Amino acid sequence: MELPQRELSVLEAASADEPTPIAELASATGQKPETVTGAAFDLEERGLVTVTEDTVADVELTEEGERYRHMGLPEVRLYLAAREAGADEAPVSMGAVLGDADLEGPEVDIALSNYARKGYGEIASGDLSADPDADPESDPEAAALDRVAADDTVDDDVRETLERRDLVVVHERTVRSVTLTDDGVDALMAGVEATEAVGQLTPEMLASGEWEDVEFADYNVEADAETPSSGKTHVLRATAERVKDVLVGMGFEEMEGPHADSEFWINDALFMPQDHPARTHWDQFALSEPSEVDDLPADLLERVESAHREGVGDDGDGYHSPWTEEMARGVDLRGHTTSLSMRYLSGHQVGDLEPPQRYFSVEKVYRNDTLDATHLLEFFQIEGWVMAEDLSVRDLMGTFTEFYSQFGIEDVRFKPHYNPYTEPSFELFGTHPRTGEVIEIGNSGLFRPEVLEPLGVECDVMAWGLALERLLMLTHGFEDIRDVHGTLADIDFLRDTEVVY
Ligand code: PHE
Repeated sequence: MELPQRELSVLEAASADEPTPIAELASATGQKPETVTGAAFDLEERGLVTVTEDTVADVELTEEGERYRHMGLPEVRLYLAAREAGADEAPVSMGAVLGDADLEGPEVDIALSNYARKGYGEIASGDLSADPDADPESDPEAAALDRVAADDTVDDDVRETLERRDLVVVHERTVRSVTLTDDGVDALMAGVEATEAVGQLTPEMLASGEWEDVEFADYNVEADAETPSSGKTHVLRATAERVKDVLVGMGFEEMEGPHADSEFWINDALFMPQDHPARTHWDQFALSEPSEVDDLPADLLERVESAHREGVGDDGDGYHSPWTEEMARGVDLRGHTTSLSMRYLSGHQVGDLEPPQRYFSVEKVYRNDTLDATHLLEFFQIEGWVMAEDLSVRDLMGTFTEFYSQFGIEDVRFKPHYNPYTEPSFELFGTHPRTGEVIEIGNSGLFRPEVLEPLGVECDVMAWGLALERLLMLTHGFEDIRDVHGTLADIDFLRDTEVVY
């Protein structure tokens, strides 16, 4: 019989009497474990070996486990101190013994509950007794901590107790082993020779015609392979790119503009009264350098001021609250990308726009929020607007239904809402795939005349700001936004997460 070299060496290194783990075969044959696995499966297909799988647990001490290994388990320390204080003859006061055992904080409770569980003695109304026959030297959990440290095996039930006590962590992995079958033994007895199996076709082989005579190694797609942990596109970035593709597919063009912008573009152009609570440092981040801009378009500034003071139209009414140009010139990190929509709609960014138009951005915004599972100080907003004659809420809902369905989200819900700059307005909600909770995913509406008239826009504009992170929560099912952002990010999630199309 002839076999490729990598298979032959595995066949020769395997035994008929007991399963040999892949790792052992790898060192015996000098081949990589993934090569050995591939060869083993090929040999199994030929009926020469069987491949078995076992789950083995790698057990590792936690920091607390390591500490107790050196200092002694709290209950053992308590027992030794109790014996020292004579508790094996008559109960002693617990307070004194705890001090002698050097126990404080959470270790006190740990010591007491395990003391009783293990039969070191009894605890009754503040007094401690010690069983004179107990033997802390043979405490199975203490011994197991030493065995874990030495990579020795530990009984399942002791291991489970240590795991419950958070003194060890257990990682399970699959180990494959190879055993010769009767046919495998027969083949070896009859003699097996190595074939020259070629792993890769080369231009030289093609040129010389040698390719016609060689045997090519089979490609085994089931073999274990090393997991490369190289850099890859962050799931949030990947989703942002996908959102852009979807919106471009829906006929939108991309907007761009400054992260730090004047309050004018961020708030005033949006008919946000200057005394609105969202315009304080509680909500937004102000820049001190530069603290002001001086390139605001003068005529637009004037029209916006007039909308704030007097409103627009015949029966319009403004805010009866203060308005200063100085405040409009202040510089903030944008709290929404609606600042970009204002720049574009005003004609300031790319010149006057004739309807119909569709624009979007997927960009960062900054808010002085309190960090929690659903809020960050910065997040990505999916901004968008459509400028056309005669738009209605139905157009807006239809756009969202189409947009979200491209991400498999079919149950978007709407709730009436208030924004100073849109009327009507509504918020969007989606259902979290794991918790079933209904979460807010965006905000939208039709811009008011007080916004559009000063900008010189004469038709309707519907607009929205959606949260990219929330979309990601719906598509990927994670619950804490900090899993994907910042120092608490769940690296395994980021590494393993599939790209969803
Ligand atoms: N600016 C709003 C927000 O950040 C979103 C929005 C944009 C709402 C445009 C209506 C119109 O929540």
